[in-house]
Amino acid sequence: MAIKTAVSRLSLFPVTAEVNKQGHLVIGGCDAVALAAEFGTPLYVFDESGLRGQCAEFKTEFGQRYAEAAIVYAGKAFLNKALALILKEEGLGLDVVSGGEMSIARAVDFPFDKVYFHGNNKSAEELGLALEWGVGRIVVDNFQELARLGEIAREKGGVPDILLRLTPGIDPHTHKYISTGVVDSKFGFTLATWEEAVAQAISSPDLNLVGLGFHLGSLIFEIEPYREAIGRVLDFAAEMKRQHGFEMQELDIGGGFAVQYTLDAPAPPISAYAGVIVPALMDKCRELGLALPRLVIEPGRAIVGRAGVALYRIGTAKEIPGVRRYVFVDGGMADNIRPALYGARYEAVVANKVLAEEAGKVTIAGKFCESGDILISDISLPSVNAGDVLAVADCGAYCLAMASNYNASLKSAVVLVRDGKARLIRRRETFEDLGRCDVV
Ligand SMILES: Cc1ncc(COP(=O)(O)O)c(C=O)c1O
Repeated sequence: MAIKTAVSRLSLFPVTAEVNKQGHLVIGGCDAVALAAEFGTPLYVFDESGLRGQCAEFKTEFGQRYAEAAIVYAGKAFLNKALALILKEEGLGLDVVSGGEMSIARAVDFPFDKVYFHGNNKSAEELGLALEWGVGRIVVDNFQELARLGEIAREKGGVPDILLRLTPGIDPHTHKYISTGVVDSKFGFTLATWEEAVAQAISSPDLNLVGLGFHLGSLIFEIEPYREAIGRVLDFAAEMKRQHGFEMQELDIGGGFAVQYTLDAPAPPISAYAGVIVPALMDKCRELGLALPRLVIEPGRAIVGRAGVALYRIGTAKEIPGVRRYVFVDGGMADNIRPALYGARYEAVVANKVLAEEAGKVTIAGKFCESGDILISDISLPSVNAGDVLAVADCGAYCLAMASNYNASLKSAVVLVRDGKARLIRRRETFEDLGRCDVV
């Protein structure tokens, strides 16, 4: 019974996850225990076939239902050069939110016409770079940006293609820190100003308004909010066509597709999202007499989440009789802030004892100087000892991307595994790296 839980947890790990004869977790054909020994811990392991499989599934599920569908990966979930190269090979676009993310794309010669530049406070410098580097779309978030971008475009002598990010006022029922489409959000134009935004954008000779976009939030398990938001934005587009002659060539519905982090919280498959989103768009366009726009989908978490596994070395433990047994690992909130930030929950297995009997519940705490540095509360695991390797599932998204050097810790190494081979795609930081920017 107890072993069965660990085996069912494997379904949350990358698609290639299996257990070898020694009872070790294997990812992409590589023994996780050997990876931890070779590359050190904390170690983030990405399964290349899992990553490519998700890219392919998004392309197929949306592409077979809608010819003009573009999958644009949201780099905020995790981005480095090796991943950007994979996305380039898979033919995806890239959603960036900073000059830094743009610079990673540029470093691998990512096709910039497929880059979408989002953000609620893009600097003049970033906007200038976006124009120089030929970003495909700038997703304008507010009136000041609309004016600023127009001025910069005039100075530089180009007419950028833009989308307007609208806040549809729809609650996708996710954590408030990752809910962005509600009325009280820092992102996008609020409902009352949508028309003014369109009027200003189309009257600017320096900007080319191509379409509209929204993003409801992240980790959205319900599909209905997408239908509702599409309906609301298309009603508005039809109204703008009547009043201003605006033709919406592109609709960007953002990301937010959920990932299953724990056994008790299954996520809808990509086909279920596509099966609602595409008919919602087509039916509504037909009803309103609108031409079908190009559909842009911006998954982040759903592409990288499950493909990533965090490996930690177990160090010491603390027993508080009758209260709790803490097991301490060599990472924590500096490499994964999500549990502390918004109560994110995870599942894990002991990578060198996957098939061992469970011995009771423990709480996995990190090594950082905050009581809130808890990775997983009350998880049933086999009896663990110092030196064992804990493997946490679904750590591909928003972990490393939000990592810090808290307590002057060194950011983790990252490896990419495939067919039994591991390739280092980010080396672990060193003490020298920590001091690199200090000026004495
Ligand atoms: C505009 C936009 N698109 C896409 C995403 C990706 O969301 P997710 O990783 O949940 O798919 C985000 C994340 O917040 C976003 O702000």
